[in-house]
Amino acid sequence: MAGGYRQKRWREAERVRVDVNAMMSHMVEGGLQEAALAALVPRLLEAYTGLARQRHARLLPFAELPYAKAELKRTLALAEEVRDEFDDLVVLGIGGSALGTRALYEGLRPIDHAWRAPLNSEMRVHVADTVDPASFTGLLGRLDLRRTLFNVISKSGDTPETMSQFLVVRDALLRDLGAVAYKRHIVVTTDAAGGALRQIVNDEGFRDLAVPAGVVGRFSVLSAVSLFPAACAGIDIAEVLAGAADMDERCAEADPWRNPALLHAGVLHLSAQQGRGIVVLMPYSNPLQALGPWFCQLWAETLGKAHDLHGAAVHRGVTPIAAIGPSDQHAQLQLWVEGPDDKTIVFVRVEDHGTELTVPKSYEDLESVSYLGGLDLGALTNMEQQATELALAKAGRPSATIVCPHLHGFALGQLFYLLEIAAVIMADLLAVDPFDQPGLEEGKQLTYGLAGRAGAEGCRAEVQRSLAKKEVRYVV
Ligand code: PA5
Repeated sequence: MAGGYRQKRWREAERVRVDVNAMMSHMVEGGLQEAALAALVPRLLEAYTGLARQRHARLLPFAELPYAKAELKRTLALAEEVRDEFDDLVVLGIGGSALGTRALYEGLRPIDHAWRAPLNSEMRVHVADTVDPASFTGLLGRLDLRRTLFNVISKSGDTPETMSQFLVVRDALLRDLGAVAYKRHIVVTTDAAGGALRQIVNDEGFRDLAVPAGVVGRFSVLSAVSLFPAACAGIDIAEVLAGAADMDERCAEADPWRNPALLHAGVLHLSAQQGRGIVVLMPYSNPLQALGPWFCQLWAETLGKAHDLHGAAVHRGVTPIAAIGPSDQHAQLQLWVEGPDDKTIVFVRVEDHGTELTVPKSYEDLESVSYLGGLDLGALTNMEQQATELALAKAGRPSATIVCPHLHGFALGQLFYLLEIAAVIMADLLAVDPFDQPGLEEGKQLTYGLAGRAGAEGCRAEVQRSLAKKEVRYVV
């Protein structure tokens, strides 16, 4: 129901639930004992209190995003301005500047939306997320540049992949449209004050949006970074934020049995302590497939750290894996059931897939086929999820399920916020900084060195020394 999120009863019915039954010993031999969870509660409370204190002191900028009214207004106004002018929007960005947009757009628009005939006031969105020459050339070749808007997104304003995409596109636009007209085809989303892209915006006068201060890429899905492309696609972004705010309200509970993020982080932490430190996110819903890479970035970059908060070398982390049901039942499940017992599976189940497709009754004499007649494909998908949960449980392999009643902006907002808060709590439990990414920065610096950026000569020399060590005898 459009705008349903304004009604309390609707919101309550549409709440995302975290079901951890199949993590526990009453369902899974070797699963978690309730006593173990009870023993973790004081530590969870400590994490919760730290989080609440940071929220209160406004030290968690990403958690303010569901309430950022001025940003919402500016984002909606700009989307409104461009929607009738263009058919396609191409996001030029990578990592946190691309993955949330894919998850949001593909979650709420059918998979083929990006190439169907443009609808009134609904732009098609394409996320480049690559400098692969064949893919990028292919994407640009399919577009009518005169009807295409490019959203250049980079918090730092100098990520090489994004900036090279931008320079290629700018050149093509300049040649096609001329030095004045081309500018309307670019919207820049970057830091409000610093960075090369901000300087370019100031010099060129491109339309722009800001990545709020202190919001790092993997926590930016509820900012203009993803909300602007989503609004251009006709997605109700106020509803997405309402979902996040509703989850925020539930995450304000101190009791883990009432707080979905605390419970989720708590069971995954205990499971990791039992040696199951790999977390597989497995939605049984194709529109949610892009949630996997977004989740992987969020958990990998937030939790994988060399040092703890006191500077001690710890090399901690949780390894995320993206899977999709039911396809991966026929690809990876064998390993999860019989291979090393080192994984926790997190399913995402959508109760009502929103599209009905009933298998026709036929071959009534053939028992191995006829039982399918009359089954709805959405119901079959959910049966497969339940069967997989049980197959894992029978093998002593625990799993959790995040249940969404329907797939809409309100659900997506809850999902994003739930997983973000759970990641911050997990970081607290692991005693690592959730918001830095020194390992990633190192790779960026070395790329600068290799590509010849001024000031990165030291990195260039380092890479060259390393390349010189590559001896032919180790290459086949
Ligand atoms: O989470 C992060 O901060 C990173 O993954 C970034 O999103 C990614 O490196 C892109 O950075 P930027 O937005 O500065 O171009």
